[in-house]
Amino acid sequence: MRALVMTAPGGSENSEIQEIAEPRPGAGQVAVTVAYAGLNFVDVMARRGDPGYVPEWPYLPGKEVAGTVRAIGAGVTGLAVGDPVVAAPVGGGLARVAVAEAALTVPVPPGVDLRQAAAAPLGLATAMLLLTDAGRFTAGDTVLVHSASGGVGGALARLVPALGGGRLLGTVGRPEKAREALKAGYDAVFPRGAASREAVRDATDGKGVDLVLDPLGTEALEFDLDVAAPGGRIVLFGNAGGGTVDALPPAGRLLAGNLTLTGFSHRGLAAAAPDRVARAIGRVLELLADGRLGLPVTEVPGLDGAAAAHDLMARGAGLGKYVVRVG
Ligand SMILES: NC(=O)c1ccc[n+]([C@@H]2O[C@H](COP(=O)([O-])OP(=O)(O)OC[C@H]3O[C@@H](n4cnc5c(N)ncnc54)[C@H](OP(=O)(O)O)[C@@H]3O)[C@@H](O)[C@H]2O)c1
Repeated sequence: MRALVMTAPGGSENSEIQEIAEPRPGAGQVAVTVAYAGLNFVDVMARRGDPGYVPEWPYLPGKEVAGTVRAIGAGVTGLAVGDPVVAAPVGGGLARVAVAEAALTVPVPPGVDLRQAAAAPLGLATAMLLLTDAGRFTAGDTVLVHSASGGVGGALARLVPALGGGRLLGTVGRPEKAREALKAGYDAVFPRGAASREAVRDATDGKGVDLVLDPLGTEALEFDLDVAAPGGRIVLFGNAGGGTVDALPPAGRLLAGNLTLTGFSHRGLAAAAPDRVARAIGRVLELLADGRLGLPVTEVPGLDGAAAAHDLMARGAGLGKYVVRVG
């Protein structure tokens, strides 16, 4: 079968389409015939060779897929061959067939198009879990999102209204990306270099931000602490730059500000509590099914285009969510 293979750390020069053996599901696993696969920044981090993302080279990227059940491993119940599903494999999603744990394979409800559903297992589920689980979002909160014009940034903009609504502020790494974030639904967007504490505070009528969702390592943490409202929550959920992550601020900063600082990892939660991730995937699929959530995606027409889309994301030039048509 055809698969995208990353042969060594680096860039697209080390990404190629290869014919490899089709994987078979082990006990508790499901093989999925992939129709669409979502692209995520974690593929880029793996490709760069960031520590901890690739168990061995060559590496098969791709951590979210939508398609149909092709085969079922021993002990799997509740799924049948041919069922439309989404799944979060640990890797190998950018291939004609991917294998995932049954615990992270979720049926797609009628009426949900597989192209949009492909964004559910990792991108949309992360956005849902950031808001509901890690961020304890309640309707009416002011939320500040860094990297607002990307895949997760766009998903957050669409989920907040679906969860009752709130005021959405975003930052972007380059001024030209502000338009994409505003289009996604942000109320105000600040290019990061020009994002002053005062501007963010003004945008909240001086109250500060209830929830900050930050995938920038610790680069923006001082800023987050300064703009958070009393009782505010800050969730660190990435390290896009791939550099060293600094020590956390002294406890006194949190005590004085009545702040909560927490972390989120889809991979960590999927390994330790897959039921919680599967529930979030199910919830976003329900929202897609009943029309309360819509997520525009950019379709990459085949596996051959995936490495170039990874290039765009690696340069920080991607806009919104990219989904590869595999089938
Ligand atoms: N913890 C988790 O489980 C989890 C799950 C999914 C995603 N994430 C994180 O969420 C973020 C968004 O992910 P995504 O899949 O939605 O990807 P994406 O759309 O490609 O977003 C990545 C964004 O990171 C920002 N960035 C900052 N420094 C960068 C650098 N040195 N090189 C390239 N981009 C850089 C860019 O936005 P700006 O320039 O506007 O900042 C870029 O658009 C990523 O940091 C990812 O690691 C975490």
